[in-house]
Amino acid sequence: MTDSSTASLLEPTLLLGQTLRFTGNPFEMPIEDAVQHETRGGVLLRGGQIAAVDQADTLRALHPMAKTVDYGKGLIMAGFVDAHVHYAQTGIIASWGKRLIDWLDLYTFPEEMRFGDKAYADEIAARYLDLTCAHGTTTMATFGTSHITSVDAFFEAAQARGQRVVAGKTCMDRNAPEGLIDTPQRAYDESKHLIGTWHNVDRLSYAMTPRFSPTSTPEQLEALGALWGEHPDCLMQTHLSEQTDEIAWVAELFPEARDYLDTYERFGLLGERGLYGHAIHLKEREKSRLREVGAGLVHCPTSNTFIGSGLFDMAGLMAAGHKVGLATDTGGGSSFSMLRTMAAAYEIGQLSHSALHAAQLLWLATQGSARSLHMDHLIGNLTPGLEADLVVLDLASTDAIAQRSARAEDLWQAVFPTIMMGDDRAVRAVWVNGKAA
Ligand code: GUN
Ligand code: ZN
Repeated sequence: MTDSSTASLLEPTLLLGQTLRFTGNPFEMPIEDAVQHETRGGVLLRGGQIAAVDQADTLRALHPMAKTVDYGKGLIMAGFVDAHVHYAQTGIIASWGKRLIDWLDLYTFPEEMRFGDKAYADEIAARYLDLTCAHGTTTMATFGTSHITSVDAFFEAAQARGQRVVAGKTCMDRNAPEGLIDTPQRAYDESKHLIGTWHNVDRLSYAMTPRFSPTSTPEQLEALGALWGEHPDCLMQTHLSEQTDEIAWVAELFPEARDYLDTYERFGLLGERGLYGHAIHLKEREKSRLREVGAGLVHCPTSNTFIGSGLFDMAGLMAAGHKVGLATDTGGGSSFSMLRTMAAAYEIGQLSHSALHAAQLLWLATQGSARSLHMDHLIGNLTPGLEADLVVLDLASTDAIAQRSARAEDLWQAVFPTIMMGDDRAVRAVWVNGKAA
């Protein structure tokens, strides 16, 4: 790097607007103790990091030469973190009429077959990252397909954009079409190769990715458990207890297992760095083991209603001390938007007689997901020292939202209409790694 480009990287940028920072977990303390809000705040970015967060006037006085972008009443907060997606399902999002297993067979597997073609994988990776950036999402953990090319394409595209992302090759050696099937050895070898190529390169991390127990033999789960044991700093992502038919099928395929979670646990695939998508119909033993090891549960509310899976027990699992992230589950989920996803989480909470506060929803979409990815020391908050991945929300982005937020008497009344009715029009700006995206 030349001297002048080093200098330009270290030149500070000052963003002005409303600022929202979490100082604690709003599921564990009163909202006012968990949040710091400035109606006229500032965020100083330098060298790809958040250098300072304070009142606008204070930062202006301290940094008069900083390049300044004034977002007025725009709300500056951490970029959204989507803890479970399938980027390769971008093209089949919103496919009609099927529940999980038929939806996989009819829509998902045929689309995923196409990702052996690197040019197609490149095209969809770019399209997916364009769409999610427009919706304010700066980090995601994605499943690839079973093709190495799908993971290469995704990491290359994210690396070029400077994004912090997690991805892995989806491993399957049974109950899927020939073109998507690998073997225990190939799953091990190809995942290992991808770890060597991409893990901890720039802002990229690898996750071991067995799709779910029905599409892996015990031998494949064992091979991936062994690989995770060799690379314990990697994450591991999979699906758990999404639909009742699926759970019955798992019981048939693994008659010796105590429950669904045990099909992972017995092969070394239960751990603190494990991410278990959906986790809806959990038995008591499963809940207590997941909590004991500190595993991440990922709530995918638009997917759970769209595919008809069931109601995630947010209140019960949070009260019991589980680590929970929030996710779109694109394309089983019906939206790329974490705003829409927060709205669906709210709606599912209401169906369970538990109203999630706007602060809790925003926390789940940033800190909660970052924590489940073990990245809360890097991303997911407006804290000095963290990486500068930010979203700026317009809290009056449509006439419908503006007429409601105009009556707001506090921040939460101002932000809740955008959570419930907002989409990409509410995303005024996105900053990735300290640069405007
Ligand atoms: N279970 C196994 N694979 C999938 C998938 O691609 N999407 C969802 N929602 N559930 C799954
Ligand atoms: Zn999924």
